[in-house]
Amino acid sequence: MHIHNLSLQNSVLNTFISEIRDKTIQKDSMRFRRNIERIGEVLGYELSKKLNFKPSEIETPLGKSNISLMKNDIVLCSILRAGVPLHNGLLNYFDAAENAFISAYRHHKHDPESFEIIVEYLACPSLENKTLILADPMLATGQSMVATFEALKPFGIPKEVHLVSVIGAQEGVDFVSKAFGNDTHLWIATVDKKLNDKGYIIPGLGDAGDLAFGEKLQQ
Ligand code: URA
Repeated sequence: MHIHNLSLQNSVLNTFISEIRDKTIQKDSMRFRRNIERIGEVLGYELSKKLNFKPSEIETPLGKSNISLMKNDIVLCSILRAGVPLHNGLLNYFDAAENAFISAYRHHKHDPESFEIIVEYLACPSLENKTLILADPMLATGQSMVATFEALKPFGIPKEVHLVSVIGAQEGVDFVSKAFGNDTHLWIATVDKKLNDKGYIIPGLGDAGDLAFGEKLQQ
């Protein structure tokens, strides 16, 4: 897998990452959502450099201009509900993309420290020969990303797969690296060292879904 950890290079992205982590600033849910969206835009911009382009000619009011334009058929797939702001950020740049949504959540049976990933709702166009961008803001164990990819298999074989995430734990990055093919790309804003016993990324930011959309009752 090709891993692109964007925080290895200093840029304005660090400002957005610091604000979603900051325990005071992150309480402003509108700013939290917008920062995740801005991170999605930055990740999307970087990802776009690996897509296919073809020469095109544009007619301006005063003449003709040559420019290379993206020619990929993109399907952007996000995991509900935390993935929505990241999805919006990517869609701001890949505005012609088709969209897929899946609900995958952690189900804690009895033990709060162990869970299984339950996939329920799934809406997806054909993936055959398309560029699949699979987005999940928090790459903790990596299990949701892999479970989602498995659930998408009946929709066709994509030509290429790009994973997009905001914060990952090293364990999650290692897990998806093994599960996905060598030619898959992972675009990630930053990687933290570990997970806690409940599967939260440390230091991470807390619960991305709750910060974006409000607290939920545990199932
Ligand atoms: N999901 C979150 O929202 N936060 C984590 O730290 C891990 C998974």
